[in-house]
Amino acid sequence: MNPSDPESPETSKTDQPNKTGNESVAQRRAERERIRLSKVFTPSLRVCFQITLGLFVVLSANSIYLGGVTFLEWMHQQVYQNYFYLLMFAAHLALGFLFLIPFLIFGIGHMVMGKDRPNRRAVRVGYALFYVALAMLISGVALSRIGGLEIKNPAGRSLAYWIHVITPLLAVWLYILHRLVGSKIRWKIGLQWGGALGLVVVGMIALQASDPREWNQVGSKDGEQYFDPSRARTTTGNFIPERAFVLDEYCMECHEDAYHGWFASAHHFSSFSNPAYLFSVQETRRKMIERDGNGQATRWCAGCHDPAGRDSV
Ligand code: HEC
Ligand code: HEC
Repeated sequence: MNPSDPESPETSKTDQPNKTGNESVAQRRAERERIRLSKVFTPSLRVCFQITLGLFVVLSANSIYLGGVTFLEWMHQQVYQNYFYLLMFAAHLALGFLFLIPFLIFGIGHMVMGKDRPNRRAVRVGYALFYVALAMLISGVALSRIGGLEIKNPAGRSLAYWIHVITPLLAVWLYILHRLVGSKIRWKIGLQWGGALGLVVVGMIALQASDPREWNQVGSKDGEQYFDPSRARTTTGNFIPERAFVLDEYCMECHEDAYHGWFASAHHFSSFSNPAYLFSVQETRRKMIERDGNGQATRWCAGCHDPAGRDSV
């Protein structure tokens, strides 16, 4: 979007007649180009365009993230949506509605100013781009569940969803076409921004897919066999951090009555806090070491009596 770009292939019949004098040909062409372009872009339309483009870029990053999470959920048949996802979704709605205003001002203004341009291909692609973007926005509003405007029918929603997913891609392609037959594209800047945004989005999705509870998890070097001969296991086969296991005080904060009930119960005294159990498990262990050469068999007792001791680190 460079108003003084002299390399644009577009020419106009409405250009002013060449000035004579000692200006170079290139300067005259640049001047002509400036006048020509000023007719499809007033300064305020240019500001609108920049806001539209900026919002589109931010929305693209946001949408790739949202789409990425949806794709992950579909791939793994598992819920990845969390608080951050909901915030991003709210941002998508807010940015989308905000986008409507500069887009409509710019789109209609630019269309009215450019409709008689001699570069018919640019005009036609421009029209197509405008209607595709309009379809994107209408489908977005229809999906937004705003009373009166929303679609409730599931088949209708699914159609609107796919229109809303496909139209932005189409719009990007049409925009590139529009610029290819119109003013020159500064690819390098675009690619740099695209690359930076891409990295941010990939980082966000990677963080989303990772579960902090799985970080630094330790398993037994014996693997699954560690739990034998009891059939009780942790879901991952790894240990559970002790501070996540033994939370009596924490539970008491809300369940004081339950805490007191538990405190005096057999559950509280199921493990080494119970002298009878301590003695019998030690005896079992001694006998097993005599018989098998190790005390592994007592893990069977621990599967019921002492999961916190057996399954945690
Ligand atoms: C921040 C407050 C809070 C803490 C801390 C808390 N709970 Fe709860 N818990 C609740 C609430 C509220 C409910 C009721 C939820 C419902 O009915 O939907 C509940 C329900 C339960 C129930 C189901 C009770 C029933 O009758 O259905 C159990 C069991 C339970 N908690 C155990 C625990 C344990 C064990 C801990 C400690 C690891 C704990 N809670 C810590 C607030 C808490
Ligand atoms: C399948 C679960 C399970 C396994 C495995 C198990 N126990 Fe128990 N144990 C229990 C239950 C439940 C009770 C409480 C029974 C009751 O009070 O009626 C209990 C009670 C006890 C008691 C009596 C505690 C008291 O204060 O009355 C001792 C001692 C004991 N077990 C030792 C062991 C030993 C040693 C092993 C391993 C060789 C073992 N248990 C394996 C579930 C199990």
